[in-house]
Amino acid sequence: MLSLRASAKLNLGLRVLARRPDGYHELETLFERIDLADELTFEDDPRDIRLTCSSAELSCAEDNLVMKAVRLLQRECRTSRGARIHLLKRIPIAAGLGGGSSDAAATLLGLNALWELKLDLPRLVALAAQLGSDVPFFLSPEPFAIGRGRGERCEPLHSECRLAHVLVSPEVQLATTDIFAALDRHRATSPEINLTAPSTSITMIAHALRNGSDFAGLAEGLWNDLEPEAIRRCPVISLIQSHLREAGCVTARVSGSGPSVFGLCRDTTHAHEVAMRMRNLSPPSWRIALIQTDDPSQVVTASVR
Ligand code: C5P
Repeated sequence: MLSLRASAKLNLGLRVLARRPDGYHELETLFERIDLADELTFEDDPRDIRLTCSSAELSCAEDNLVMKAVRLLQRECRTSRGARIHLLKRIPIAAGLGGGSSDAAATLLGLNALWELKLDLPRLVALAAQLGSDVPFFLSPEPFAIGRGRGERCEPLHSECRLAHVLVSPEVQLATTDIFAALDRHRATSPEINLTAPSTSITMIAHALRNGSDFAGLAEGLWNDLEPEAIRRCPVISLIQSHLREAGCVTARVSGSGPSVFGLCRDTTHAHEVAMRMRNLSPPSWRIALIQTDDPSQVVTASVR
């Protein structure tokens, strides 16, 4: 049996550049792996694939990204080996935190080890990119990376920073496809936007992280081009942002296509205070979590027990 953590991500910065002929958008993003994680266990089975999940909200059928990862590996490696996979879900679903993508990456790593497929990292990265734009990021234990292309071309960013945040996820799910489509419609009526301009925000965040969490630089650099569209669909995001800022966060931004919002805190003590204040004034349906940059030593790359 093999057990793997599948951590969530935040997009500290997300610039959406031109729309490509294949319908995707060129991106520039700065990923942060955080210590909010699902857990997957894998047990060998000579015949069948069986996926179970702790959350009734989630399908365990072929449309689940975990199952898509299994089928892709079986096809690529021409194997009909099976496995029993259990997914303990802690990351909010369709919330901009990459939970499904991270589960898919953990499945590639887990089955590569369990089935002794011996696929190397470049091969796994190529498979991961077929499953989703965010999946390759989760194959590497590095806590920070710059993502380009569709988001699948990742370059690790070396930084010793361990950021502290308060994460608020309202009880709303947003479909990434819808948010990108809404941005396209908006941009079609605002042709003055220069889509090919190099994005300063990613460079600023990268610089701030390399300089040991320079909060002024981070506050200025944190940016998400999808945020206005997420707010249009889910206006409560603005309220969450104001609460987080009033509670003393350096800044508060949407992650991915939302609706999760993270408030950047000065340290964990500060994050505790902010989380307490947020718990007092938010409705019970909002999920509030104190999170930190993931500890790379906790990010297990698959080993069989
Ligand atoms: O790659 P992934 O399947 O996660 O993307 C989900 C959807 O988000 C895509 O179908 C597309 O509509 C949108 N997307 C995009 N440009 C990207 C990444 C995602 O338009 N770079």
